[in-house]
Amino acid sequence: MDRRARILVLYASQTGNAEDVAERIGREAARRAYLPQVMSMDRYDPRQLASENAVIFVASTTGQGDKPDTMKRFWKFLLNSSLSKRWLENVNYAVFGLGDSGYQKFNFVALKLDRRLADLGAKSIVYRGLGDDQHRSGYEGALDPWLTSLWSAVRGIYGREEASEPANDTAWQLDPPKYKIVYHQPHISSVAEGYSTVTAFSSLRLLSTADASFLQIKNMRLTDTSHEQDVRHLEFDLGGSGLEYAPGDVLGVFPAQSEEAVSRFMERCGLDEPALVSVEPANAVEGYQNVAPVTLRTLVEAVMDVSSASPRRYFFEVMMHFAEAEHEKERLQYFATSEGRDDLYNYNQRERRTVTEVLEDFPSVRLPLEWLVQLVPRLRPRYFSISSSLKAHPNEIHLTMAVVQWTTPFKRKRQGLCSTWLAQLDSKTGVVPVWVTKGILKLPRPSVPLILVGPGTGCAPFRAFIEERAAIAASQPVAPILFFFGCRYSAKDFLYKEQWQAFAQDRGVLSQENGGGFFVAFSRDQPRKIYVQHRIREQSKLVYKLIEDGAAIFVSGSADKMPADVAQAFDEIAAEMGDPRAAPKKLEALGRYVVEVWT
Ligand code: 2AM
Repeated sequence: MDRRARILVLYASQTGNAEDVAERIGREAARRAYLPQVMSMDRYDPRQLASENAVIFVASTTGQGDKPDTMKRFWKFLLNSSLSKRWLENVNYAVFGLGDSGYQKFNFVALKLDRRLADLGAKSIVYRGLGDDQHRSGYEGALDPWLTSLWSAVRGIYGREEASEPANDTAWQLDPPKYKIVYHQPHISSVAEGYSTVTAFSSLRLLSTADASFLQIKNMRLTDTSHEQDVRHLEFDLGGSGLEYAPGDVLGVFPAQSEEAVSRFMERCGLDEPALVSVEPANAVEGYQNVAPVTLRTLVEAVMDVSSASPRRYFFEVMMHFAEAEHEKERLQYFATSEGRDDLYNYNQRERRTVTEVLEDFPSVRLPLEWLVQLVPRLRPRYFSISSSLKAHPNEIHLTMAVVQWTTPFKRKRQGLCSTWLAQLDSKTGVVPVWVTKGILKLPRPSVPLILVGPGTGCAPFRAFIEERAAIAASQPVAPILFFFGCRYSAKDFLYKEQWQAFAQDRGVLSQENGGGFFVAFSRDQPRKIYVQHRIREQSKLVYKLIEDGAAIFVSGSADKMPADVAQAFDEIAAEMGDPRAAPKKLEALGRYVVEVWT
């Protein structure tokens, strides 16, 4: 039996940062001769919790104060009122949260978790660590000092001597890689050559491809060519796929990487041979079992996101072990220390260096393929709100998508992988793996009035709502809809202008005769900014009347301050009308105020 003291590390991650922190805690624990087990909360059976001795929780909070999806089941269990106040009295615990102090509900999830664990009798061994994206070195600014306190607290509970600590942070051994690569004889290549992207995806267990359809795409630009933002209207032909969807649903898209980017990465890593490989777990852990052989190129294309920004800190630590040039090794070693942390942050996160760029900056590093498979982030699907109604466009799915591009602090141009790829596809070349999933927005039944607030591409799900209601209106009465839209200029980025105007005329679903309305705010057509929230305030009587009539309010758009500003406008209307029940908080509790934001 292993006599090392066990430490359980449970994480709830949305984007992978909490997982990264948890794995780092696991590695540090192993180096200190503890026996760590690192697990996602949704894979842990919470009924076991009372029998643990030491548990370290790492939980991130999303912008709006929500917990990650992978924490929901665990949290529901903890809230169970039948649990006794002494249920966790033998458990020592610590909490590290990841959040962003730019948002109101900073690290809300970590706070609530900490409070609930204490409620259940668990014993906190160290102060609550609160990582902050706004810190000049990101969440690691708070993590490093917290870890120092954590290990001394853990030493306290296990009664260890100081001497068992590793002498310095960078002196440790590299853990063995999680995967191994099996090279196959070229004669199987005739089998592998016939591989379509579908089989590559499914054999690599990226998607349950049973659910993915490959659809033809058409695409047109919605914004004027002189406008700084490129927003696209995309139409997918459902063909014989049998795909169906409802208003509010979301389309998952599996993107393809640019050939150039893949070639550049392969060249840097010396991977251009047409070898046939399969990836297997180094010891029987999860993932990648029974994988059919693929070419190295397919492996990179379908699995490794070679242009993903800001590789994890562990990536740099492993690079250090494989650096051949002394000066590169020293720089990587420095990055791994607490003195080098800010410089690493500036080099890596702030500038959003890609995996390929980092590898090119350290040309003497020879990372073996099994390490590349483990460390290069997986290519992931992206999700878009569907902007059409199937009733209005039988056999089609529409998306309204901004092509993501930005400039880094050092003026490098960056592009979003998926939107850039989709924007350059057309019906001759474009076949896209997609699937439909439920979103958080759901269109209420026809008798419920709607107040929709969707500036910019936030209008996407509401185009689906409005089209659906218009189609229903042909055969039965529908409740009024107020739609607030915002953009920069009336002449350049007024998305779907004619369509909204048509719905607002001739007794359409947005027309005044029907008790509805369409209101638009142009933020940059005049010196002073006018936003959707200003239009909402101007229409306070109409807005309040609809709320009194049972309206549901939906807000959608890219994050930032918009949702908070809009909520404030509704708050002011509730105050002006002397009706606290009309406030967003109250309506939210009744499912009548729903916000969907993305970044
Ligand atoms: P701006 O870019 O001129 O600031 C769609 O992106 C529209 O939303 C744009 O007109 C944009 O204006 C506007 N917008 C930006 N911040 C906002 C906020 N806090 N509230 C409401 N609208 C906002």
